[in-house]
Amino acid sequence: MSRKILVTSALPYANGAIHLGHLVEYIQTDVWVRFQKMRGHTCHYVCADDTHGTPIMLRAEKEGITPEALIERVHGEHLRDFTGFHVAFDNYYSTNSAENRHFAYDIYGKLKANGKIVSRTISQLYDPVKNMFLPDRFVKGECPKCGAKDQYGDNCESCGTTYAPTDLKNPYSAVSGATPELRDSEHFFFKLGDCEDFLKNWTTTEGKLQAEASNKMQEWFEAGLSDWDISRDAPYFGFEIPDAPGKYFYVWLDAPVGYMASHKNLCDRLGIDFDSYWNKDSDAELYHFIGKDILYFHALFWPAMLEFSGYRTPTAINAHGFLTVDGAKMSKSRGTFITAESYLRHLNPEWLRYYFAAKLSNTVEDIDLNLEDFSARVNSDLIGKYVNIASRAAGFISKRFGGELSEMRGLGIDASYIAYHGLLHNLRSKSEAIASLYDARLYAQAIREIMALADQINQFVDQQKPWELAKQEGKDTELHYVCSVLINAFRILTIYLKPVLPKLAQDVEAFLNVAPLQWADAQNLLLAHCINPYNHLMTRIDPKQIEAMVEENKQSLAPVVEAPKLDYEVPPIAETISIDDFMKIDLRVARIVEAKAVEGADKLVSLTLDIGTETRHVFAGIKSAYKPEDLQGRLTVMVANLAPRKMKFGMSEGMVLAAGGDGGLYILNPDSGAKPGMRIK
Ligand code: 2FM
Ligand code: ZN
Repeated sequence: MSRKILVTSALPYANGAIHLGHLVEYIQTDVWVRFQKMRGHTCHYVCADDTHGTPIMLRAEKEGITPEALIERVHGEHLRDFTGFHVAFDNYYSTNSAENRHFAYDIYGKLKANGKIVSRTISQLYDPVKNMFLPDRFVKGECPKCGAKDQYGDNCESCGTTYAPTDLKNPYSAVSGATPELRDSEHFFFKLGDCEDFLKNWTTTEGKLQAEASNKMQEWFEAGLSDWDISRDAPYFGFEIPDAPGKYFYVWLDAPVGYMASHKNLCDRLGIDFDSYWNKDSDAELYHFIGKDILYFHALFWPAMLEFSGYRTPTAINAHGFLTVDGAKMSKSRGTFITAESYLRHLNPEWLRYYFAAKLSNTVEDIDLNLEDFSARVNSDLIGKYVNIASRAAGFISKRFGGELSEMRGLGIDASYIAYHGLLHNLRSKSEAIASLYDARLYAQAIREIMALADQINQFVDQQKPWELAKQEGKDTELHYVCSVLINAFRILTIYLKPVLPKLAQDVEAFLNVAPLQWADAQNLLLAHCINPYNHLMTRIDPKQIEAMVEENKQSLAPVVEAPKLDYEVPPIAETISIDDFMKIDLRVARIVEAKAVEGADKLVSLTLDIGTETRHVFAGIKSAYKPEDLQGRLTVMVANLAPRKMKFGMSEGMVLAAGGDGGLYILNPDSGAKPGMRIK
């Protein structure tokens, strides 16, 4: 029976690059989704960038751009990286969207109407210079237990103690360096404790959570469920809470709602009935793939939010463990904190998909990327065992049989016939067992089964020795048969590997001259069918490629060289202006076509500037630094939309930019290649 399935992966924050740690989850989810689609089920895979919160707001500020500009850029980078790894979302959206605002308001409103929201005044650390309340991670100070300096406001990295930011000794704001002060503010809380009966029941319902997750829940229930603070004060990048000016939803309130928003956006685009997935009595399945670190949000807050706002709850939460590289936490100094982008510059994404699949199970255990094992395993399994099958048989089919596979008839039912058909029969008979392993996310076991089949096929090649048949007189029919069995066996293995290796499978489909392979196709054979000439399907990993990648990711942790003492005065930075203010200034590349001294003026030079479409006359006070004749022909930068000013010696139609401060003057030069009239942005 065809199922209706909605699948999500956690929404990555919009302020950082995708790295291999993230990819465990996206690859795990993508394999599962591709498998479900191959089985003929209706399956939507949605995700989005998690765009709200203080870190994103401050990051944008640091980069001198708006949060909107930051999240738009990062959205492009994230999607590029996911696509590079063949992670095929049906929709990759943003939590900063109209749909997300709609559902965040809708859910909040219903929770409020259900008496699940309360407000209280709390005291929090406030940065009096930056004028903002400080999230725990933005307060630093000395650990109250061991005294280690520069510890974050939530826990000490030196002794591991957890505490409140107010417990830190000599606290300071990580944003401005100021000493924070305690200030009161009204906050809104979701009464999680009120949902305890529902949650106890939900989290112990068979199939909702993995055993380890379920145990963790018991610990949390024993510790007691406290109210959840869902509001933050301005300035905050997020959704303002209805009827509460200056208060915003905490990023974690609208982040999971982003799953709905992304799905709604997909449904609206494709004319799918969204409600039939999210109604309380929905017949669709809903799975969230997440890391074990965000279980609390997905197994407690999220089901409670959905339940008490009248929506369906998830079918299951599938948590996975963390990624280690060579047995240790990913490290920037060792070069094992590898970004997706850098991986793709050096290595084939399907190698990693295969390796992760070969390691993944349905538990929350961490998985290790051992770089030596990675190349050994990929080379031996994918090249040595799998791709080789095709390369060993395809040449004979093209050269000796015009590219056409045998009808596989005409041999008597003898021992060879039994061997040929026995092999294919055995391969086909494993289809449901392998499917069950994929469905249960037992990918490592599925891969083991598939590679055991590849071993059997390779043994068959060694027994049948097609290269010897090819040399013998009168053995054509047998050679044709054997090679056709091998191509069929290869095709079935490809079906079994397709959720993990989608691009390779696509290349195999082109080689075999067949439509996209579905799971059920494992039951058919390709007989008397023309295939295309074989082109190499995959190369081996050269360990040098891995070395180069690790080298590229090594970040020197050497202390930054101390800035030299300045022997000139640097004025303070002027008041912040908005990007819109900045964009009002029209800066252009200008060529100085003529430069003359101005009679009677000590400081001025009269410049004629070519700005592409017109020339301008400008007086610049740069005579102390430049001889007019030296300026002729040079490129510089001018403010082109400055109102003309009448000066003693004539009109000045703009202004040339120059730096000063140590007594000298330095006109700006654009880099080589710039042309008159180009706009500077
Ligand atoms: O932990 C994280 O990276 C979060 N951005 C995950 C959010 S998942 C969902 F709830 F939105
Ligand atoms: Zn400590």
